[in-house]
Amino acid sequence: ESHHAVFGHPITHSLSPRIHARFSQQTGIPLRFEAIDATPETFATALEAFTAGGGDGACVTLPLKEAALALCSEVSDRARRAGAVNVLVRKPAPAEAGGDRWHGDNTDGSGLVRDLTARQGVDLRQRRTLLLGAGGAAHGVAPALIDAGIGDMFIVNRDSARADALVDKLGLPKRVHSRYYEDLRALGEFDLIINATSAARSGGLPTLPTSLVGARTACVDLSYGEVAIPFLAWARAAGARKAVDGVGMLVEQAADAFKLWHDVRPYTDEAYAALRERDA
Ligand code: ATR
Repeated sequence: ESHHAVFGHPITHSLSPRIHARFSQQTGIPLRFEAIDATPETFATALEAFTAGGGDGACVTLPLKEAALALCSEVSDRARRAGAVNVLVRKPAPAEAGGDRWHGDNTDGSGLVRDLTARQGVDLRQRRTLLLGAGGAAHGVAPALIDAGIGDMFIVNRDSARADALVDKLGLPKRVHSRYYEDLRALGEFDLIINATSAARSGGLPTLPTSLVGARTACVDLSYGEVAIPFLAWARAAGARKAVDGVGMLVEQAADAFKLWHDVRPYTDEAYAALRERDA
């Protein structure tokens, strides 16, 4: 039986243990999976204890994804580009070489792209995209969206320096642009609008003009549950073709993590349906 965990704070409401339990059942790969509460201050110690206890792999959620990047001895290219790690894979190494190491990866972006393309039927190619937010969640998904072939991307953030920094980091000045919330009215319609802000958790959604949305527009909130409601309600009221929350992304990033640990990618429809049922 392999030993896995999810680290985060708060962690009690994490859906990861249930998703991975389903994957384990479905693939027949036995898995012990625990939820470990850790803050950025206690994460290094908690991970050390997990390593000493024989931990084989872990997922990392808020607010530890940046800290996880720093704790890994090697990271994938996509994790480095995202500036964040959401999956830890243990790499055995002899004691002479300093013992086992953690390899860090990031499956948030691939999870979002997979959910949008395979489940929601959204064609991302050449899609004019608006990304709201420039924090950890936005950093995590932006590179994968670009790799999936979206068209121009406009990034809007309250703190414009953070939007500029993300644009610079993505390194495609002809395709990726930073704008202010006040400019939104002048930007016209988008094919894809992604809410990567935590606004619903802190102070409420900024005012978004309905002129951003046309009959073809797909709107996605990277969060789920209560905090996704305001943005999705706005999207529906504005006439969006699709308004989806982050449950699909959550399940897909978990399946990509499971694949990194066990070399098998579970089917995700069952776990997705179970989480939807819980919502209903
Ligand atoms: P996360 O990992 O969830 O992205 P984060 O890195 O703290 O968390 O980023 C939160 C994002 O939500 C940021 O883009 C933040 O904007 P600022 O950088 O300007 O703070 C955005 N955000 C949070 N509350 C917001 C609000 N009330 N209105 C608009 N944007 C908000």
